[in-house]
Amino acid sequence: MFNFSYYTPTQVVFGRDAEGHTGALVKAQGCKKVLIHYGGGSVVRSGLLGRIKASLDKEGVTYIELGGVVPNPRLSLVYQGIELCKKEGVDFILAVGGGSVIDSSKAIAYGLAEDADVWELYDRARQAKACLPVGVVLTIAAAGSEMSDSSVITKDEGGIKRGYSSDLCRPRFAIMNPELTATLPPYQTASGCADIMMHTMERYFTPNGTMDLTDSLAEGLMRTVMDNAVILRDDPANYEARAEIMWAGSLSHNGLTGCGSDGGDWATHGLEHEMGGMFDVTHGAGLAAVWGSWARYVYRDCLDRFVKFAVNVMGVENTGAPEDVALKGIEAMEDFYRSIQMPTCFSELGIAPTQEQLSTMAHMFHIACGGKKGTAKVLQEADFLKIYEMANH
Ligand code: NZQ
Ligand code: ZN
Repeated sequence: MFNFSYYTPTQVVFGRDAEGHTGALVKAQGCKKVLIHYGGGSVVRSGLLGRIKASLDKEGVTYIELGGVVPNPRLSLVYQGIELCKKEGVDFILAVGGGSVIDSSKAIAYGLAEDADVWELYDRARQAKACLPVGVVLTIAAAGSEMSDSSVITKDEGGIKRGYSSDLCRPRFAIMNPELTATLPPYQTASGCADIMMHTMERYFTPNGTMDLTDSLAEGLMRTVMDNAVILRDDPANYEARAEIMWAGSLSHNGLTGCGSDGGDWATHGLEHEMGGMFDVTHGAGLAAVWGSWARYVYRDCLDRFVKFAVNVMGVENTGAPEDVALKGIEAMEDFYRSIQMPTCFSELGIAPTQEQLSTMAHMFHIACGGKKGTAKVLQEADFLKIYEMANH
């Protein structure tokens, strides 16, 4: 077990009608003016935005709005948001949406706190010293950004998708009403479940540092997500299942399932970020499409953990050679993805990269990660390319 620091400053307000507390929670922050930031219109159509504004009005909170965040949120809108907030004297960002809206909000908050180009953070040119406060009303269980220290932004020119992590951007509060996720298209619900699984798997598949309690929490979380993802496939309005998934989404990425480990592997996320940057795929679906290839490429180097995963998470019988048990676990995971209509290769994801594009993605990842990535197996550019090639069918 490694030493660790577990920091979760986010106040969670969870359950039916939770968004009714928005005005009071924002007011308690003592801010002067709020930016309500949202996406492509789902919160307008559902009536959520109107309810949020009514809640702010009731508490006498002044606000302005900026919508238009797209999945794989763009740097250009972040710059626009920073300029708007400077002009309007905004000192608190309220994200109403999913991971993309929250990440765009965090980027605007970083950009407002320091007089320097915010992309330098994502480009690894400097570290943030400050960030304006951010609050969240969550509408999709997926990225876990509502409690995480991360923000992932795509630079428009060249489709460069990069993450930046710092405790400074962890949201002050996260309002989570599972009912709000009932309007999601099934593909987004399933992609969210794939992403939630991955945030715990990234931390689980590492040979360095284990802690029984953390492993048990992680295994329970993964089983819960798989059980409830299948329930939602058949019964999208099921509140209890939506609630299980929503809370799992936050716990999967707030650090809890990594306590005592070395931080985790994270190669699959790095591989997906290049796919998202180049092909604008949905993040969770992209992860599902490449995970099996990554797992088959690395499992021998992290065999004990793959066997443990197969037995404790996927219910594989622990008989025969460990390699066989591990492989059965990988196959069972891919079967799960298929069962919720998630892809397990690039053609199922709907992309057909050329060999040159695969090489470009491998090289971009090489640059993004500084040469090597992964703890289950340490991977370099040639390995990234091989994994992309394995997934490219
Ligand atoms: O834009 P609108 O119209 O709201 O539509 C969104 C969007 O099209 C829609 N949606 C969201 N809530 C809805 C809804 N539609 C109907 N009803 C609702 N209640 O769903 C689509 C996807 O939304 P998005 O915010 O992109 O989803 P997600 O939460 O999966 O976020 C993905 C982004 O987060 C990043 C990903 O890379 C990707 O850019 N990540 C962020 C992380 C973090 N900050 O900690 C960690 C993750 O690993 C991930 O990388
Ligand atoms: Zn993710």
